[in-house]
Amino acid sequence: MKKKILAVLESSDGYVSGEQLSKQLGVSRTAVWKYIGLLREEGYKIDSVTHRGYRLAEAADLLDIKKITPMLHTSVVGTKLDIMKSVDSTNEEVKRRAAEGEKSGLVIAAEKQTGGKGRLGRTWQSDSGGIYFTVLLKPDLPPNEISAVTLAAGYGMCLAVREYTGLDAKIKWPNDIIIGNKKVCGILTEMAAQTDRVDYVAIGIGINVNHISFPDEIKEKATSLYIESGKKINRNEFFACILKNLDMVTAGFMAGFTEEDKNNFKSLCATLDRQVSAVKGGVKIEGTAFDLSSEGDLMIRDKNGTVYAVNSGEVVVQGIY
Ligand code: BTN
Repeated sequence: MKKKILAVLESSDGYVSGEQLSKQLGVSRTAVWKYIGLLREEGYKIDSVTHRGYRLAEAADLLDIKKITPMLHTSVVGTKLDIMKSVDSTNEEVKRRAAEGEKSGLVIAAEKQTGGKGRLGRTWQSDSGGIYFTVLLKPDLPPNEISAVTLAAGYGMCLAVREYTGLDAKIKWPNDIIIGNKKVCGILTEMAAQTDRVDYVAIGIGINVNHISFPDEIKEKATSLYIESGKKINRNEFFACILKNLDMVTAGFMAGFTEEDKNNFKSLCATLDRQVSAVKGGVKIEGTAFDLSSEGDLMIRDKNGTVYAVNSGEVVVQGIY
C-alpha cells in the first residue's frame, strides 16, 4: 500500500487529498495517514496542507541496487551487493552470511541499523542520511597481518571522499576519516580466523553523508560531507565511488602491506607528526607519532627518546576531536 500511495504522489503535480487517495486505493483515510508517516520515516519529504492533502516535495534519496549496479565495475568488492531496509548491524549480517558460505566481495548495506556497533564496544547511531555497509573479504593472510586490510579500508574511504567531494579528507590512524578536526567516517573490522589463517574479515563502514546536524553530545566531534561541502550528495553515485576505491585499494593491500602502500597511506595520515597518547600493555604512552612500521603499526617516540609500536586500541591525537 505504501508503494501504491507513493506511486500516486509521484504521478501527481500538485496536492492529492486524503479522501482521493483513500477512495482510489480502497483504504481508510487513517490508513493513508499511517502510510504517509511510514514514507516520511523512510526519508520522503511529503507536505500536507489542511483541505488540500498531500504532495511529494522531495523523493527520498534511498540506496537503490538498480542505480548502483550499472556504475560498478569492481573485480571483488561489491560483486554481490544487497541493500536492506533495516538490519541489526550490517557487520552481524555479513558474519551470518559468511557462516552460510558467502564469497569474498559481498557487500551488505542498510538504510537503518537497529544495533549499529562502533569500536571499543560503543554503539553507532545510524541516522538517515548516512551510508552504512559491511564488506566481506577473505584475504590469504595470517591473522597478525590483517591490520593491512584495516588500513586499506581507511585509505580507500579517504580516496573516495576526496574524489567525489574534493574535500581535504585525512586518515586518523588506523582508519577513522576526518575533515578538519572532526570525524566523518568510522570503520569496525571484525575477523574470524584459525591460528595461522584468516577465514574472513567483515569491514563495517559508517559515513556521515547528508546529515544536516548532530546531537549536542557529538556535534563538536562529528561532521558530515554535506556540512563540510554545503552540497547534498547523491548517495547512489557516491556509494559506487566508494566501492570502486575500496576494490582498487584492498586488491593491493590484501597481499600484505608494501612500502608503496605505506607511503600512500602516510601521505593522507593526519596522525603523523602530532602529539598523541595511547595505551600499550596497560601503560600510558605520550609522545610524537613519527612513522608507521612495515606492518602498519603507529610508531611513537616519547620525550626520553624511547620508541613504541602501537597496533590497536584508542590513540588520542592532540587537536583532533
Ligand atoms: C567506529 O568509529 O567506532 C566504527 C564505526 C563503524 C560503524 C559501521 S556502520 C556499518 C557497520 N555496521 C556496524 O554495526 N558498524 C559498522
